[in-house]
Amino acid sequence: MTFRNVSKEALVGSVALGVVFVTGYFFGKKKSFTMISKSHCGAKDNPLMQYVLNHSLREHPSLKNLRMRTMEHPWCIMMVACEQAQLMANLAKLIKAKKALEIGVYTGYNTLNMALALPDDGVVVACDISDEYANVGRPYWIEAGVEQKIDLRIQPALKTLGDLLAAGQAGTFDFVFIDADKENYDNYYEKSLQLLRKGGIIAVDNVLWGGRVLNPSPDDKSTVAIDKLNKKLHKDARISLSMITVGDGLTLAFKL
Ligand SMILES: C[S@@+](CC[C@H](N)C(=O)[O-])C[C@H]1O[C@@H](n2cnc3c(N)ncnc32)[C@H](O)[C@@H]1O
Ligand SMILES: *[C@@H]1O[C@H](CO)[C@@H](O)[C@H](O)[C@H]1NC(C)=O
Repeated sequence: MTFRNVSKEALVGSVALGVVFVTGYFFGKKKSFTMISKSHCGAKDNPLMQYVLNHSLREHPSLKNLRMRTMEHPWCIMMVACEQAQLMANLAKLIKAKKALEIGVYTGYNTLNMALALPDDGVVVACDISDEYANVGRPYWIEAGVEQKIDLRIQPALKTLGDLLAAGQAGTFDFVFIDADKENYDNYYEKSLQLLRKGGIIAVDNVLWGGRVLNPSPDDKSTVAIDKLNKKLHKDARISLSMITVGDGLTLAFKL
């Protein structure tokens, strides 16, 4: 089994090798993308990463099928790293999560991953502005037999978070994955923290942003937003946290 096309982060790594040039990615704004050959999505040039995957990945067959299908999609760079998804599923099980929130679904690799991790009466509220991508993933949600646990809401995620709060769901969510437009990261974080119960986890993706957080240029709004949130979370007394160097950087915030 090869693990080519495994993660968007490995692609960022390949930028450093000068293999491809990436201008950054913009959700829903395809015109700003530099097209990337699918053969560049993955860990194939990194033997140690290959070793990690060879010795730890336990991917549900439908998750694997969805990953393979996603790698044929032009924006496969957006897919979460599978080893990162597995970590998040393990965390969700550890805290006996029943209600999860996915902010940024794309083809739903992590949405399916979370749905598989939750009990039969669990639910993943999945937020995206496009159902074009989710339609690619849905057959695999059905194949895995967990589609009924996925509550897909196609509208801006901030609107869905507001709807959930207005419906009295503050303090009821166990796990949140923030992985949509970076400029809204702080808004997603604040609303998610309200929706989360004590002991719940918010996982924030792309906190290293391909290394750009080291030297954010002021007109790069995504990098500035990520760096600002990173600095805020470090001092935030409402949570404890860890910043993990999996994928493109993942911050785990545990609500106190
Ligand atoms: C990085 S992808 C998500 C990847 C996904 N978590 C996975 O498991 O592969 C980001 C997604 O956020 C969506 N998005 C962008 N802006 C959004 C917004 N304002 N509200 C909700 N979703 C948004 C995009 O359509 C895209 O599908
Ligand atoms: C990983 O597994 C593949 C398929 O079995 C194998 O070809 C490759 O050599 C392995 N790589 C490492 C570093 O374990």
